[in-house]
Amino acid sequence: MESFIQNLFAERIGGKNYGKDNKIYKFEKIKRAKREAMEKNPGISLIDFGVGEPDEKAFDVVIAALKKEADDPANRGYSDNGIVEFKAAAVDYMKKVYGVTGLNPETEVIHAIGSKSALAMMPSAFINPGDVALMTVPGYPVFGTHTSWYGGEVYNLPLKKENGFLPDLTGIPGDILKRAKVLVLNYPNNPTGAVADESFYREVIEFARRNSIVVVVDAAYAALVYGGKPFSFLSIPGAKDVGVEIHSLSKAFNMTGWRMAFVVGNELVVRAFADVKDNYDSGQFKAVQKAGAAALQNPDITDKINVKYERRLKKLVALLQRLGFEVEMPGGTFYLYVKIPRGVKGGRRFETAEEFSQFLIKEMLISTVPWDDVEPNVRFSATFEASGIDDEERIMKEVETRLAEYTFEF
Ligand SMILES: Cc1ncc(COP(=O)(O)O)c(C=O)c1O
Repeated sequence: MESFIQNLFAERIGGKNYGKDNKIYKFEKIKRAKREAMEKNPGISLIDFGVGEPDEKAFDVVIAALKKEADDPANRGYSDNGIVEFKAAAVDYMKKVYGVTGLNPETEVIHAIGSKSALAMMPSAFINPGDVALMTVPGYPVFGTHTSWYGGEVYNLPLKKENGFLPDLTGIPGDILKRAKVLVLNYPNNPTGAVADESFYREVIEFARRNSIVVVVDAAYAALVYGGKPFSFLSIPGAKDVGVEIHSLSKAFNMTGWRMAFVVGNELVVRAFADVKDNYDSGQFKAVQKAGAAALQNPDITDKINVKYERRLKKLVALLQRLGFEVEMPGGTFYLYVKIPRGVKGGRRFETAEEFSQFLIKEMLISTVPWDDVEPNVRFSATFEASGIDDEERIMKEVETRLAEYTFEF
């Protein structure tokens, strides 16, 4: 007999039908295809470009700080909305790395237990039923999920190659603009690897002012840039009047599991976020915050991490170009967003990125993440596992050999 609990679920997770939907979602499809390919080809290693997090642990200086601070009884309790040491370190970091000055550590910065949590909580400060959040696609959907859960609506702004993967803010219908309260941006962008420049952000500030819209910049990859300097939205005059930026220690400091991020910028937004957050969690463990401060005091950690990603991305770009793919070095992140081929010579056609990604897994044990939201592309991540440069070279050669078995048509 079915449990009475089945009838109690909220509509936002499927209501009475919760758990009965047999649609298989993207990441589950990838997981199943990987399992099947490995079972069929026990002697061949699977090369995984699908992982969205660093392949190495945090740096020693950060781990040492955690060990020391974890032992200190003063760090034991709830930290509520955060400790001053972390806030001060975040303000210094913004100045040192992004040239953002004049931030008040008391009122304009607050920690979060990862930027995912910050993005999940922020809608409750702004979204009433019927309100709109403007969000870029393809992208990280968390802010949008919670917007819908609050009865709001998500309006998608497609990111296309022809526009440098920047959204077109001029084509949004008037009715949507009237109801829009928040614009969520993410640069350097997951999955496209695109970066936003100063002129785009100036346009964003103007747009936000004109339409009374709060800007939330998800800066999870802000420090991972190639061929340029890390750039903050907040370094532009007027940015602080319209919004906030969310920085994460996950990718830039190899600290995904540690759950440390911070929201910085507009005082009113930070205050509202703090009030909301206070009703969700009681703050990250103070020892983790202090270790996070140690990371922020050592931004050269990111420089070291970047050397590896840049080297790997360059190799991947060159390799894919040799095989005929249209691909360029991304401006930032550790992702490469690759337009799929139309098919293979004398064989299969690919209509969607999902089909191509399944083909790569099943035929050559190469795993990527497909994106079909706007233009069919697969995402390769430079965070694949390799023990040292020689091993990395070996993996690259192996990837090229496997891909070269087919002639792709574009
Ligand atoms: C664009 C984007 N924003 C936010 C996050 C979440 O990062 P965090 O570990 O800080 O929660 C990710 C993680 O993959 C991401 O890709």
